Amino acid sequence: MSNSLKRYSIRQATKQDLPAITEIYNERIANSTGLFIYEAVSVDYMKKWLDDSQKMGYPAIVAVEKTTGHTVAYSYLGSFRSKPAFNLSAEITVYIHLDHHRQGLGRLLSLEMIRIGTEMKFKAITAGITTENTPSIGLFKSLGFNEAGVFHNTGYKFGRFLDVTFLEYCIPETEGPGDGKIPRFIPFPWDKYVFGQSLYNK
Ligand SMILES: CC(C)(COP(=O)(O)OP(=O)(O)OC[C@H]1O[C@@H](n2cnc3c(N)ncnc32)[C@H](O)[C@@H]1OP(=O)(O)O)[C@@H](O)C(=O)NCCC(=O)NCCS
Repeated sequence: MSNSLKRYSIRQATKQDLPAITEIYNERIANSTGLFIYEAVSVDYMKKWLDDSQKMGYPAIVAVEKTTGHTVAYSYLGSFRSKPAFNLSAEITVYIHLDHHRQGLGRLLSLEMIRIGTEMKFKAITAGITTENTPSIGLFKSLGFNEAGVFHNTGYKFGRFLDVTFLEYCIPETEGPGDGKIPRFIPFPWDKYVFGQSLYNK
């Protein structure tokens, strides 16, 4: 068992987590070049994200500190590109509250998301990271992501042009549906998810 699991539990994201998720996200909007967003978002904005994830069958999970019950981190998969040809590619996101960095949560949540994405039959999990965000790039590379390329000066924040590095995690065992068929991932089993357990054999 990962040491982080002594202190934190992992479960699916719910409406009750949205204020904490919004706070974690807004702190990074205000203080980092990791996100190319300038204005803080509302809890309603995050509610739409969660509703859309559930409707489309994308997963979203959170880490909860056992002693306080606080939601301190979250991770999700979303669409890489909206055209159907890209349906089996997902983009991963992971955010940890500043007070809980370096406790192993980034690794734990990302590994669980890779496991989930593999069971959902994605072919590739991608990440687009501001190149100067070396902790995130280090995290994903340590989990088996390969650098796919760098877009130079494509983002602009805090008065500076920024490079964005794309990383990919390829899942060789996923097969396509056959010629002429639209590829579809298996929807995340919302309300049935248990951390670390097979998603569909129940
Ligand atoms: C990147 C992030 C998710 C890492 O989470 P974390 O819980 O602090 O990381 P972990 O404790 O699990 O560390 C895992 C690995 O990440 C890397 N890492 C994390 N923080 C690092 C830092 N400050 N400097 C260098 N490497 C770092 C290391 O490779 C580390 O492995 P190690 O402990 O064996 O050296 C966290 O810093 C974060 O939420 N950042 C803001 C959001 C973000 O950039 N998300 C990624 C884009 S979607």
